[in-house]
Amino acid sequence: TGAITLDPGYKNTGSCESAITFLDGEEGILRYRGYSIEELAEKADFLEVAYLLIFGELPNKIQLQKFNTDILDQSIVNEDMKTVLHGFPDSAHPMGVLSSLTSALTAFNPKSVNVESEEDMYKAIVKILAKFPVLAAWTLRKKNNQTLFNKDTNIGYVESLLKMMFQEGSKNYKPNKVVVNALDKLLILHADHEQNCSTSTVRIVGSSHAGLFASISAGVSALWGPLHGGANQAVIEMLEEIKADGGDTSKFIAKAKDKDDPFRLMGFGHRVYKNFDPRAKIIKKAADEVLGQLGVEDPILEIAKGLEKAALEDQYFIDRKLYPNVDFYSGIIYRAMGIPTEMFTVMFAVGRLPGWIAQWREMRLRKEPIGRPRQVYIGETHRKFKEIENR
Ligand code: CMC
Repeated sequence: TGAITLDPGYKNTGSCESAITFLDGEEGILRYRGYSIEELAEKADFLEVAYLLIFGELPNKIQLQKFNTDILDQSIVNEDMKTVLHGFPDSAHPMGVLSSLTSALTAFNPKSVNVESEEDMYKAIVKILAKFPVLAAWTLRKKNNQTLFNKDTNIGYVESLLKMMFQEGSKNYKPNKVVVNALDKLLILHADHEQNCSTSTVRIVGSSHAGLFASISAGVSALWGPLHGGANQAVIEMLEEIKADGGDTSKFIAKAKDKDDPFRLMGFGHRVYKNFDPRAKIIKKAADEVLGQLGVEDPILEIAKGLEKAALEDQYFIDRKLYPNVDFYSGIIYRAMGIPTEMFTVMFAVGRLPGWIAQWREMRLRKEPIGRPRQVYIGETHRKFKEIENR
């Protein structure tokens, strides 16, 4: 087998060739299919970006309409899925529930597992794009003991997600336009990020030819961790803690620098970006705009800005090239929109869904081999079996 190269965390190992997302960590560049993230966040909507990521081109009007209609046709979630949902305690974290429900989708759609042709693949893709936001909204409704709604098929993808999350009483409920636009932008910024932890998980699970929904469910679980998507929840909890402590950021910076203290500055640092995270730049600006438009004053926005400034001037963070990442300011916007903290990572998952799908589809179309890393064995050599009396 030859010598095995060891690369913990795959810091220098490419796992695949991909034509989806370009990322230059030194220059802070992020492009989907060659289009810069700044331009897409400004000019495109989330469904167009989903199409772009998955199929490689921006859709024309007819293509987009067909895509939208195909998704709407699949938006009803099987009633029995509600029984699965109601089996969870109200205290369950929405990410655990979302991952389980996504996995359960396989049971209710067994045909979606064997994708032999591009057509099968398309059907599975449209199904998950249609049902995932419904499940995401349901995790919130269930927690609050509220009625579960189906998708309103007369409004846009992001607007209907917000409607399913927040609708009360009247069917005429309309989410605030500022909130719809801001969420659209946030979801675009989260839509793909090449071979990150959850995406690599989706690819590796899918590489065994497990179905798309099982692969996405695994991706949701990987995203949940605080070092990955779970950071958006952890950031707000950290900022709240700083506020409760009187607002002094220096104590927390000192804790983050202390190697004997496991505390890290949440929303700071990135495996690939060593200059700045272009998504964080856009989100920081959007946070000011959205809070202004919604008339929300949130003291933790000032704390976040103060913390960022102090960290960026500190030699520890300078030496290690640690900058705010996508999760540092996103939670402040979600909060201003009225989204509960525990739901932040669920929003990230809805945003990342097109990326996971695109990467899974690319992997299958390229007929990539099963993902199977090697190891360097460091355990015992050959030992003689010891009878239980002698142990
Ligand atoms: N606070 C304090 N020190 C840090 C931080 C931080 N947030 N991030 C990295 N470091 C230090 C780390 O201790 C190490 O120091 P030393 O060289 O003295 O041992 C050095 O910087 C390099 O860190 P690393 O852990 O080797 O870097 P990594 O590429 O393995 O980890 C990371 C990247 C994002 C997991 C890490 O920066 C981190 O834990 N950040 C906080 C969690 C977070 O915000 N995650 C969201 C990432 S972006 C969105 C997403 O992926 O979903």
